[in-house]
Parts: sequence; C-alpha cells; structure tokens
Amino acid sequence: MCGIVGYLGEKNPKTVIIDGLKKLEYRGYDSAGVAIIHNGKTKRIRAQGKLKALEEKVLNEDFNGHVGIGHTRWATHGAPNERNAHPHQVGEVSLVHNGIIENYLEIKAELIKEGAVISSDTDSELVAHLIWKELQKNQNLLLSVQIVLKKIIGAFSIVALWEKSPNELVAFKDGPPLIVGLSKDTEKSEFFVVSDVQAALVHTNRFVYLNDREVVHIKDKAVNYYNADGATLKKEITVLNWTADMVEKMGYRHFMLKELYEQPRSVAAAIAPYIDTDTHAVKFNDQGKSFNSETIFKSIERVIFVACGTSFYASMIGKYLIEQICRVPVDTDIASEFRYRRPVIPKNSLVISVSQSGETADTLAAVRLAKEQGAQVLSITNVAQSSIDREADAHMYMNSGVEIGVASTKAFTSTLALLNVLALQISKARGSLSPVSEKEYVQNLLTIPSQIEVVLAYDKYFSEAAKELQKYKGFLYLGRGVNYPIALEGALKLKELAYMHAEGYAAGEMKHGPLALIDESMAIVVVAPSDELLDKTVSNLQEAKARGGKIISIGTGENKALKDMSEYYLSLPGSLWTTNPIIAVVPLQLMAYHLADSLGYDVDQPRNLAKSVTVE
Ligand code: G6P
Repeated sequence: MCGIVGYLGEKNPKTVIIDGLKKLEYRGYDSAGVAIIHNGKTKRIRAQGKLKALEEKVLNEDFNGHVGIGHTRWATHGAPNERNAHPHQVGEVSLVHNGIIENYLEIKAELIKEGAVISSDTDSELVAHLIWKELQKNQNLLLSVQIVLKKIIGAFSIVALWEKSPNELVAFKDGPPLIVGLSKDTEKSEFFVVSDVQAALVHTNRFVYLNDREVVHIKDKAVNYYNADGATLKKEITVLNWTADMVEKMGYRHFMLKELYEQPRSVAAAIAPYIDTDTHAVKFNDQGKSFNSETIFKSIERVIFVACGTSFYASMIGKYLIEQICRVPVDTDIASEFRYRRPVIPKNSLVISVSQSGETADTLAAVRLAKEQGAQVLSITNVAQSSIDREADAHMYMNSGVEIGVASTKAFTSTLALLNVLALQISKARGSLSPVSEKEYVQNLLTIPSQIEVVLAYDKYFSEAAKELQKYKGFLYLGRGVNYPIALEGALKLKELAYMHAEGYAAGEMKHGPLALIDESMAIVVVAPSDELLDKTVSNLQEAKARGGKIISIGTGENKALKDMSEYYLSLPGSLWTTNPIIAVVPLQLMAYHLADSLGYDVDQPRNLAKSVTVE
C-alpha cells in the first residue's frame, strides 16, 4: 500500500526521504512525491509512475529546511496521476496519507459548500483542507490535527507539515501502520515517521510503534505521544535487530530470487526455537505474556485459521496437519470473509492468524473480532511488533528476515515449517504424540533445509525451460490432500508474476469442470509425491493427457510412470507427507519466477499488487 516517510533532523531531508521511499518501493505504487521546506515555504514535487521519475525531478532541486514528508501512492481514490499524488497541499499545510477516509463524500460536500477549491480526486486532500481550516483559527498544528481526527472515519495514517512551523511534524494513525524512528545516538535528536521500519533502518534501529487513534507530535527536539482525547501517553521504544543490509539484493538479480535462495536458512531459523536438537523433541517456547500453550493446547476444541493470500494457503495446509496429527477440528477462513459472515466461534477455540507482514487489514480485523468473541489468538507472523503481533495473545515468528518481493516465498515455507511444529506441540500437549512419532517427525523436519537446497538446483532447469513454457495459454495446477493448497499457491505465483491464466484445483475435481478446458495449449502442473493418493492422481492425469493436455509433474525420486507421461518431470527428495509441501512449492516458485523474468516483467513489483495490504 502507500509508503510514508517523514523526517525532521539535521540531515538533508531530500536524501533521507527519497532513500527511505526507495526502501518501500517493493510495496508497489503508481506515483510518488515530496514536500520539503525551503526558504520557509513548502516546495512540493510529485511525479506519476516509478520513483525514478520523482528522483529525476528533484535531482537539481535544493531544499534548505530540515523537515519534509514523502509518499509513494497505491491508488484507492482517484486515478494514478500527478494531480492525485501526495503530498497534498492546502494553504500552509501539506500531508501524506495511507488508507481510506470512509466519510469523504460528506466531508467533500461540506467543504464545497464552504467554498473550498478541491484540486484532486482523492479523499486525502480533504483532510488537508480540514486541518488548514482549523489551523487558520488556532495557529496550532497539534490541536488542529486532534480536532480533525474526531471528524474523519475510516482506516488511515497521516503525517502533516505546516510551513510556518518548520521544526514540527504531527502524525496520527487509525489503521495502517505508522512508526516513529528515534535517533540511534541518544544524544542527538532526529526523527522519522514511517509506514515501515525499512525506510529508516539505515539511520536507526530505535522505533516507537503507534497504536490506533494515537497522535505523535514532534517539535524542535522533543517528541510527545497522545491518545485521541489529548491525554499524554508513555510509549515504549523497541530496539530492532534488523540491519540495513537485510534490505539489499546481495548480488541477486531480484529480491524474490534472493528470498527463494534464503529458504533453507529461513526454514531452519523458523523451527530452531521449538526444537531440541539433542533429543529430537518439540519444545513449548511461549512468547506470549499470559499464554501457556501447553495448557491451552490441551483444552482446545477447535482451531480456526484466518489469513489472506499466500498466508491463507499456508493455513489450509495447517488444517491438514492439525486435523490429521491432533484430531482437532480445524476451520480455515479467508480473513475478509470471516470478518463479515458473523462467524460462530465456539468456546475453547484457538484462532490462529497467519500474516507475513502482520499488517493485512482484513486479517487484523478478523483477529479483533475473534478477541471480541472471547477467543485466544495465536499469531504467526514475520514482523515482530506488527499490529497483529501486538494484538495477539501468543506469538510464533517466521524468523525469515525481511521479505521484499511482493510475491511471498520464504515466509510461506517458514510458515509451513512452523505449522508442522505447532501440530506436534498440540498433539504432544494432548498426550496423543508418541515419543517415537515425535522423534520421526522432528528428525524429518530437520532435514528440510538441506532438501530445499537440493530442489533449488532446479533453478537452471527452469531458467532454460522458461521460454518453452511461454507458449501455453493457460496452466492448471493440480494436487491432492496436503498438496492441494500447494497447487493453489503455485497457480497464484504464476498469476501474480507472469500475468498468465492459472488455476489451482484439487486433482479429484478435474471431472467436475476443468477437463473442459484441456487442449494442446493447456499445461497441467501436478504435484504428485509417492503417497497413497499417487495412483488416483496418475489416473486423473491420464484423462487430461488423453485430451491433449501437456503435463509438468513433480514427483518423488525416479517415478517412471509419471515421467513417461510428462513433458517435464521433476524429482523431489523423499519426505514425510507433513513436510512434502515445503519442498514441493519450491519448483513452483522457481517456475513462476523464471517465466515472469523471461517475459520481461518486474518480478519484485508485479503490476497492481502491493506487498502489504493495509486497507480493505
Ligand atoms: C498481499 C501480498 C501476498 C500476501 C498477502 C497476505 O496480497 O502480495 O504475497 O500473501 O498480501 O499478506 P500477509 O502479510 O498478511 O501474509
């Protein structure tokens, strides 16, 4: 979604803001802009398109002030053009905004009635009008913002600047994330207000996370926090152990490729806190304050997963794992459906939210709903201190390091590894996991990082096959059981990156519709490990092949039957059914990556998509 960088300090605001916006580029956007004080006036420069266009425009511009705001926009209200780009300026006020103002029509009508001239199609500009209106009366930016905050409804985070007060920034949040960065050197005072810590990591690792309906006021060398009623708040400083080099490509052509290659390490890092490598047992490593997982897991009667996108597909695999290993019923819900379908959450339910970013608006809303209804929430996220993480009762971390590629890869495999751990923990807490099985599962899990290494060797294979694969007009991805969600995830990766039509299906559903799609221009990608469902999948493939479909199959070892019927056959190392999806998804990630790259698409920033969806 939109990226925000505000800066007040001794450094050159232009450099700090543009460099910060570059770090947020991966989130996806269609225009960008800055407003920085120069000679006591606001100098505002905006450009449609990629950040490069803005960079060129500001290249020879001087700014002698020490405060500024910048923004990358992902259009919600109004077309992606310069006139709708942020910052918006009204009178002496300029602001950047991420989110949606729901009562914008009402506000707009009122402003027009009062004679305001509206110069964009955005809801954001209206907030600048409201603040300017108050400011003219009270000459106090903080007070004006506090008054306006009470008038707007929606999900938003906003940073405002007043040219008459060039050492001041006011920001507030009610929805999308907003984080205050404080100078690393505690003797100095410089301040960042960012939508994602990555925008300020080169400068500092000391951050304060704003909660909803909180205001931050930075003036001269002081920073103060308030709630919506104006009462002063004491906020905690979080010192992150992420470093700036984590957001570099480190020699890879794309972030996505780097992240694909990080998977052996990130899967190992995800499971490490929960595995005793001497005894091959799972540990309960509670990171929740009041949550005793062993006790809770013993008494739960239902698990409900809520998530979106790739995280939702990971949750579907969680259902297979927990139901089969623990015999506890599991529901999986797309968070945007869950929050609006008045779900029944029975007593003793454990709601598990899965979210790489920890900021997805629908997942956050689902978590809040679950909590309101009395459920305990366990969050699985990659970003500690993200909104979802902060609201959950218990926490598991993907430990994947920063994921920049819009299409999620390493966070997905780390989640699958964590879900394996979780299923074992639940089963152990309930006394249904024998020591022998526990050892077998854990030993198998520990081999996964090196098995992913083996699968990554397919990289060359896919880069060579990519051109050939371009000829297909559509792709049908098939899987059964725990590999059915892998088929869905494979299809999603291809859609997101290569903009090709792809559908994921449970292999057993072929006769109920998809067979009608099959002809010579259709590729069928099948995940068919050597398990008890293999024969059934092979007969589904025979039916597709008989109708001209071309088969790309992923099996275990040397599977002659599968190989003979396929145009391409990939052999995975043998693994338990519980972990097979972790290694089976890797070739599908590689295939989507190379296909998209060979077509010349921007793999890290696919069109129209954003990494972190902080609005509905
Ligand atoms: C966006 C991203 C996906 C991601 C989904 C859920 O659509 O492009 O890669 O799977 O959001 O994000 P989350 O951060 O909640 O896992």
